[in-house]
Amino acid sequence: MVDVLVIFGPNLNMLGTREPEIYGADSMADIMGALSDQAVDLGRRIEMMQSNDEGVLVTAIQKARSDAAAILFNLAAYTHTSVALRDALAMFDGPKVEVHLSNNDRRETFRQVSLTAGVSDGSIVGFGADSFRLGLDAVHRLLLRRDGAGAIRQIRGGDIG
Ligand code: DQA
Repeated sequence: MVDVLVIFGPNLNMLGTREPEIYGADSMADIMGALSDQAVDLGRRIEMMQSNDEGVLVTAIQKARSDAAAILFNLAAYTHTSVALRDALAMFDGPKVEVHLSNNDRRETFRQVSLTAGVSDGSIVGFGADSFRLGLDAVHRLLLRRDGAGAIRQIRGGDIG
């Protein structure tokens, strides 16, 4: 069981070279590295995955029901199209936070609709790679609110693998 499953959706594996004027210069590996460091600082155990495949993402969210306490996700283009991913997220009971690097509300109208925001606790958009950092912080705080600080102290006390 991990504290947080972090999900990167389609085309986010191309970050760094993909439209850097919109998405920034950081690669997905850079963002994952920063999240790993942040997780250690927060005393949280995280797992990260990326897929370009909607079905793989649906299955990962279903599996998280037993394997993760919370989900941080950027479902990229599927945000605007996928009822299947919305339905999968709706079944997940723990904290759920949506993030986007760009500010979708300032972009094309088709990006201004999120099918998944309505089944999330909240969304963080428009801060580039920092959206993930802020998102992990938000998930951490939601878990603290739910479980209390005692759970974290227990993890810091040597439970981490
Ligand atoms: C994105 C925004 C989406 O509209 C787009 O399809 C992406 C990236 C973002 O993080 O800004 O792939 O999710």
